[in-house]
Amino acid sequence: MGNTTITNETQQNTRKKQKIGIENFELIETLSKSVNGEVFLVQKKETKELYAMKVLLKEKLQEEQQIKNVKNERKVLVELDHPFIISLKYSFQTSTHLFLLTEYATGGDLYGLLNRESEIHESLARILISEVILALEYIHSKGIAYRDLKPENILIDQSGHIKICDFGLARFLGKRRSNKTKTFCGSPEYLSPEIIKHQPYGRETDLWSLGIVLYEILHRLPPFYSTNRQVMYKKILNAPIKFSNRISEDAKSLISCLLIREPMLRLGTGKKGFENIKKHSFFYGVDWNKVYEKEYETGFSTEPKEISINRDENIQFDLESVLSTQFSFLKIHSNNSKKIRDPFFKHFDYNYEKHQKQEKKKKKRKEKRKQRKNDEIFTFNFEMNENGNTSQNTNKNTSQNTSQNISQNISQNVSESENDFPLDFLVEYDFTIAINKEKILQQNIYQQKIYQNSIENLITN
Ligand SMILES: Nc1ncnc2c1ncn2[C@@H]1O[C@H](COP(=O)(O)OP(=O)(O)OP(=O)(O)O)[C@@H](O)[C@H]1O
Ligand SMILES: [Mg+2]
Repeated sequence: MGNTTITNETQQNTRKKQKIGIENFELIETLSKSVNGEVFLVQKKETKELYAMKVLLKEKLQEEQQIKNVKNERKVLVELDHPFIISLKYSFQTSTHLFLLTEYATGGDLYGLLNRESEIHESLARILISEVILALEYIHSKGIAYRDLKPENILIDQSGHIKICDFGLARFLGKRRSNKTKTFCGSPEYLSPEIIKHQPYGRETDLWSLGIVLYEILHRLPPFYSTNRQVMYKKILNAPIKFSNRISEDAKSLISCLLIREPMLRLGTGKKGFENIKKHSFFYGVDWNKVYEKEYETGFSTEPKEISINRDENIQFDLESVLSTQFSFLKIHSNNSKKIRDPFFKHFDYNYEKHQKQEKKKKKRKEKRKQRKNDEIFTFNFEMNENGNTSQNTNKNTSQNTSQNISQNISQNVSESENDFPLDFLVEYDFTIAINKEKILQQNIYQQKIYQNSIENLITN
């Protein structure tokens, strides 16, 4: 892992060439794993300072065409300097990996905090969301759309105040407020209607996500949440917002104004932009200078002594070898090789073979469930014979044809009525409804025929 290209970023964004690479850091623990990469807590050997180190595998990025996102993340982070935005400390690369080191936020992310706390009172939500607003206002003022506002990307620092992280999806749109982009990206629960509808969109998309995040802080779940993504997208486009009785009228009003589906009418758009949000009655009495100066306490501060590292001294955490084995794992993984024994995963309590077996079992169970569902549908496909008696048609071809017809009909309806809506999931969603409708229809026809038969029998007898 020798040939490192090194760049050091200081807080003031002045860049000095300095020989620094992974050999300067010690691995403490894993903070997060995702499809894109991993985030580790590391300690600089000389200074003992802690950093969050995002590691991305170049090979994987090439496959998923995400190099642009990473380069962009670094570029955006270098550009930004704000009390509520995580600051980039170092970035460097090896022939295999890219590394972004940011200041370590000891309080974790807002998602974890919402899970830990039994309830977030409105007064506390007000402080947190005010800080997010100042960060977002600053990001937009730099001509950037953030595009991934969600609790997982809002960190809590040692003083208990927020730090926005993860600029992988952020885009420079330029200073003109009317500039737009049209990439379909973000996290499903927080996507704005304009993104779902595949329309060109601007920075207003972040204001929608802001409304969703405030709702989630106060209710635990986002307003349009569903385990079925297709249903969720439909709700984002059409469903009314349901509020708990506990929520004040001011909070309801602010959320409703941010969740206006027409982006141009959303609170915070227009010439006055964020000023209109700050003037909303929910923020009555808030001194925005005090917010900026972190004068409102959240109560989430962590004492420095809490940053104690309970590292098992018997395990050798050599970052270089960990990353090189991780690299070999991912390489083998992508080649679908089965037998892997990797010491790296022993340290992290991760067994690849076990994981593979579990995944296979899951897949089998899913297939079985799907099969059972299909069988259920087929058993409802009744037909009358010439004598008026019923016979159950279990011929799969007939049933499949019926399903296909329904699917085609729906697909035609959808493409006529919702031109700019991604068809793939709508078809799938409506399809199940149609199947259920067909079930009921078949049952009704069946019952009606039996009823007629028995009347006829009564008359003839
Ligand atoms: N500076 C930091 N301090 C503390 N925790 C951090 C820091 N940076 C990231 N994390 C943790 O790692 C998680 C993932 O980080 P980040 O969102 O930057 O990575 P990502 O690869 O884009 O992940 P995802 O694809 O899940 O969004 C965060 O949600 C947070 O829990
Ligand atoms: Mg993230």
